[in-house]
Amino acid sequence: MKIFLDTADLAEIEQLLPTGMIDGVTTNPSLIAKSGADIKKTIAAICEMVSGPVSAEVTATDVETMRKEADVLAAIAPNVTVKLPLTQAGLTVCKQLSAQDVMTNVTLCFSPVQALMAAKAGASFISPFVGRLDDLGQDGMNLIRDIYDVYANYAFETEILVASIRGPQHVTDAALIGADVVTIPPKILAQLYKHPLTDKGLADFLADWDKTGQSIL
Ligand code: E4P
Repeated sequence: MKIFLDTADLAEIEQLLPTGMIDGVTTNPSLIAKSGADIKKTIAAICEMVSGPVSAEVTATDVETMRKEADVLAAIAPNVTVKLPLTQAGLTVCKQLSAQDVMTNVTLCFSPVQALMAAKAGASFISPFVGRLDDLGQDGMNLIRDIYDVYANYAFETEILVASIRGPQHVTDAALIGADVVTIPPKILAQLYKHPLTDKGLADFLADWDKTGQSIL
């Protein structure tokens, strides 16, 4: 399972890259706003740091302007993945970009039939938002299962990118389903390493080791 970092914060990306776990980055207009930085400079900087796909989202809602924005974003670096909303206009632009081998990530997916439309539009990635469905009292992971069932009936190449991750359990559930990608906020990525028995076990080992007076180096 590929892991993308869901952030536009350069310092967070820089800090987590040495883990070797980061296969790409996703951003959205809210994350860019939170970073307080210029979108084009930020995406260029992330693309220099990360060789995998880096999602940069358009903000226009009509086909013509969206396409212009998509071209600007795609020109920043070869690993830019143009992120498009799951609207009729977004999928129209997605179809155009996929015909030109530009990577695309269709975002704000909340139903299996929307995911079907994105795959037909040639999306490289479809981003179903599990956390936001959970917030409504639904089980967001059911959407991931349904999309896999739909895609299994056909020969789509669209990868399922599980988004709106709210905690380690979402990552576990996505992995149990066999999701292609999860995009994880940095704070949650750090939690994936943690278990109280690991902390306790390590503390016990080190306490015993101290008693030996030995040193490995
Ligand atoms: C993914 O591409 C989105 O940027 C992100 O996962 C949305 O997460 P949120 O619902 O926590 O804002």
